[in-house]
Amino acid sequence: MSTKKILVTPGDGIGPEVSEQAVQVLKNLAPRFGLQLELTEKPVGGAAYDLTGTPIPDETLEAARNSDAVLLGAVGGPKWESLDFSVRPERGLLKLRSELELYANLRPAVIYGDLVNASTLKPEVVDGADLMVVRELTGGIYFGQPRGVEVRNGERVGFNTLVYSESEIRRIAKVGFEIAMKRGKILTSVDKANVLESTELWREIVTEVGKDFPKVELSHMYADNAAMQIIRNPKQFDTMVTTNMFGDILSDAAAMMTGSLGMLPSASIGGNIGMYEPVHGSAPDISGQDKANPLAMILSVGMMLRYSFDLGEADEIVKQAVVKTLETYRTGDIMAEGKTLIGCQEMGERVLQFLEQE
Ligand code: IPM
Ligand code: MG
Repeated sequence: MSTKKILVTPGDGIGPEVSEQAVQVLKNLAPRFGLQLELTEKPVGGAAYDLTGTPIPDETLEAARNSDAVLLGAVGGPKWESLDFSVRPERGLLKLRSELELYANLRPAVIYGDLVNASTLKPEVVDGADLMVVRELTGGIYFGQPRGVEVRNGERVGFNTLVYSESEIRRIAKVGFEIAMKRGKILTSVDKANVLESTELWREIVTEVGKDFPKVELSHMYADNAAMQIIRNPKQFDTMVTTNMFGDILSDAAAMMTGSLGMLPSASIGGNIGMYEPVHGSAPDISGQDKANPLAMILSVGMMLRYSFDLGEADEIVKQAVVKTLETYRTGDIMAEGKTLIGCQEMGERVLQFLEQE
């Protein structure tokens, strides 16, 4: 048995509900793969702010640094929107990402089974689509300095900086190529090189890194075109590598292609400790009502087992159990005719049931 320390940070809104189900799945699978779990729970986001006055208490950061992997629910909500920027729930998440040096965020958008009918796009457009968005996560306009709001010439001016160093681009490009090598060997690098110098450099460096990966077919696409192409013909994509902000936007679009934001998991890697979280937010409109879809979070557990503990087989088992569950059961966001509508907790229980059979 090898012991794994997992920090669970449920966060806000539906975060705690979906985390609970994901933890059950993790507990179920761990012993089957020789893992002994040491689970710790700490607050992050608005929940942490309410308790301690900061969205990322030192205690949570410390626990994250001392863990083997972090499982995060979601952060944010209207309750904290009027707070000063420096203590908003989102700052907690961004701090975790940067402190743990999680510069690569993997967001796989896949259509699970007959969920093809839950997409707002035509079935023939999305059926078989399988896109991995590799998003840069610790740089770009999210972190660039200078930033702020100040008075200039008698009026307020808001500003942020889009900045990427060669080394930052090189390391995320490398992850993009490595992931593409394990998939369909087609990599689309998304930038806005026609307008932004920083992404002109991005394009140059990605091309350079590509020389070390001659088997990968590399192409470049402007971000606006990429947004259009995800909706027009998502099947043309295999692996996409892009900046922090373009990745944020395009991964939501890719998620929606699969039927619901409630289906998309993510893995943040690059440092010594991986962090796993659903792509969706805290969905305050449905929180506490047992309506949330826990599948993105459950699939994030699968990604943890694959990327942090090298248990790809366990990840496959999770995905199989999710596909089987979806054949009969649905939460509201992916409900379809002929299926049985259930809540968050029951969805978790159904997945567990199918896991036992895998
Ligand atoms: C995401 C979210 C976050 C982001 C927010 C909550 C800060 O939208 O993970 O996609 O913008 O990165
Ligand atoms: Mg987002």
